[in-house]
Amino acid sequence: MVIVGAQWGDEGKGKITDLLSHSADLVVRYQGGVNAGHTVVVGERTFKLHLIPSGILYPKTRCVIATGTVIDPEVLIQELDCLEKLGVAAHNLFISQTAHVTMPYHRLIDLAEEDRRGKYRLGTTGRGIGPTYADKASRTGIRVLDLMDPVGLTEKLNWIIPYKNVLLEKIYGLAPLDPSPVIDRYLAYAERLRSHVCDAGVLLEEAICNRENILFEGAQGTLLDLDHGTYPYVTSSNPVAGGACVGAGVGPTMIDRVIGVAKAYTTRVGEGPFPTELTDAIGQHLGTKGAEFGTTTGRARRCGWFDAVIGRYAVRTNGLDCLAVTKLDVLDELAEIKVCVAYRLGDQVLKSFPSDSRILAQCEPIYETLPGWQSCTCDCQQLSDLPAAALAYLQFLARQMATPIAIVSLGAERGQTIIVEDPIHGPKRALLTDAFDHPLCP
Ligand code: GDP
Ligand code: IMO
Ligand code: MG
Repeated sequence: MVIVGAQWGDEGKGKITDLLSHSADLVVRYQGGVNAGHTVVVGERTFKLHLIPSGILYPKTRCVIATGTVIDPEVLIQELDCLEKLGVAAHNLFISQTAHVTMPYHRLIDLAEEDRRGKYRLGTTGRGIGPTYADKASRTGIRVLDLMDPVGLTEKLNWIIPYKNVLLEKIYGLAPLDPSPVIDRYLAYAERLRSHVCDAGVLLEEAICNRENILFEGAQGTLLDLDHGTYPYVTSSNPVAGGACVGAGVGPTMIDRVIGVAKAYTTRVGEGPFPTELTDAIGQHLGTKGAEFGTTTGRARRCGWFDAVIGRYAVRTNGLDCLAVTKLDVLDELAEIKVCVAYRLGDQVLKSFPSDSRILAQCEPIYETLPGWQSCTCDCQQLSDLPAAALAYLQFLARQMATPIAIVSLGAERGQTIIVEDPIHGPKRALLTDAFDHPLCP
């Protein structure tokens, strides 16, 4: 099963992945790098994961950082150290030897490029993600297997760093990097990570042959997808469900289902169009109550109403079987709640998502207003515990997206969750009929 962000990231994928990892044999991160920040709360302990899959808290679950990711070894080692301090062993972590490595010049170029763009900046996380993927595509990247080969790495970095120095000095006006300390530092990282490095394709093949339960954990979200998101305000990888096949190296026939994670409202970090953005007191309330600050950069997330046009686009682009709706509790105090059901563009009404983000920037949301419930939902354990207006809100979302809601999340803790239907073993959406009896089915 693929777990994918249905909005602009930070939907609560970490919480949902952790929850579903309970019955997973393998959890695989298939794209992105340390731009991701997935928070998992277990009792008193809060885990902030950037590269390590959110299945790591289960000692029997193996976790794979697959080929489609980009790995910043310094941050990965910090993450391993943090986990160790919190009492979590990471012997079950496997790193694909063909994943690409984020180098110091990638970070420098990411930051310098944002500076140069001025008002055209993208609002990246500054973690070197774009430049690492750019080097991968232009075939000047360093892979994990290069890192594991001291002679080869030294040779490669001795020609790549001088080449990058031309850019750093001549284009960006920065100081050049001295290859030698960089090589020493990365060789030390290599020794720390060596025991985790493997041929991830073989590992996955064995798991598939043994009919193991594999979860593919997406980072970022559908609208941040390089090809299908709000380009150019996107990340440099493919978070959409199809990206799991490419990133992990498994065929599409190996993916049995896809769950989309969406907040009960919308957030976005960084620049780019956001039709339902609220810059008023309600937007502030969502930000405060939802603690909407980036896990990776600490930046305040922009907040707005749920956008069902985006929701339908996520259903289409990912082939979603079902949804996990998170942070419903954040809406608890509101007297009324709006949902964008279509966009107005001049005298046209758009019901589907415009693939040109310049058009999206001109779209005005058309809202339907639903009554709020103004009571606390955070202790609800089943649908029947929810206030009627909260249930009606969820049913409205499911109908708008023509997709059943399998999970409702009402707090950061594992226990603050209503499992409406087992998303792993429940029926596939493609098999649903009109007669299908589902409490949160359209
Ligand atoms: P991810 O990047 O998709 O994994 O999401 P993040 O972890 O960056 O952001 C989601 C934040 O919301 C985290 O701090 C979670 O602990 C928290 N969270 C997840 N689900 C819920 C929920 O249902 N209610 C509330 N209030 N917080 C939640
Ligand atoms: P998770 O996995 C939210 C955004 C950045 C910026 C754009 C490009 O926690 O959901 P990048 O550094 O990737 O080149 O930045 O993408 N972005 C995210 N927004 N959640 C994320 O990850 C994000 N990762 C990148 O803010 O707008
Ligand atoms: Mg996040």
